[in-house]
Amino acid sequence: WMFLAAAAVFGYLLGSIPFGLVITKLSGLGDIRAIGSGNIGTTNVLRTGRKDLAAATLLCDALKGTAAVLIAGMWGMECAMVAGLAAFLGHVFPVWLRFKGGKGVATYLGVLIALAWPIALLFAVIWLGVAFATRYSSLAALLAATLVPVALLMTDRMDLALLFLVLSAMLMALHHQNIRRLLAGTESRIGKKSSAPP
Ligand code: G3P
Repeated sequence: WMFLAAAAVFGYLLGSIPFGLVITKLSGLGDIRAIGSGNIGTTNVLRTGRKDLAAATLLCDALKGTAAVLIAGMWGMECAMVAGLAAFLGHVFPVWLRFKGGKGVATYLGVLIALAWPIALLFAVIWLGVAFATRYSSLAALLAATLVPVALLMTDRMDLALLFLVLSAMLMALHHQNIRRLLAGTESRIGKKSSAPP
């Protein structure tokens, strides 16, 4: 229990580092939360027009999930899974930003890379396919996250399937505004710059 609690705290703290916010602030772009969708993630950093910063955000937000799982995993599989869940929650509800964080797509992917990399590859392929076809980052994430628990079930990893069922459900709930905009046809597409929050 001590190890599980330590894994949770460690994962949460690592996950709660808001790299999108830190990277854009350090680059002199101001507060990313005042731009586009107001989100602190890769998609919104891309709306500043800085692809390099968006790539750095994706890499760091994903790697913190991967690192949390791999490091806590030294105390066993249960600690790895708890740290992954905690890292996702840390990104979404960071104490440093009054618990208003991101939508968790990159960190979800990072955790998945550490726990089941072939399924992470599947996630990436689906995300890229949908994103290229529709230019909707949110739709790409929603569809990819729908298929992950299904794919894990088919590989007979009940523990991982359950974890990612929970993570996917949270990811979808966090996209409620995006889902509303997608249904209304007003969701912004990748490649469009934006300076004002909706
Ligand atoms: O799934 C991508 C998600 O992060 C969308 O971000 O900024 O369009 O709300 P945003």
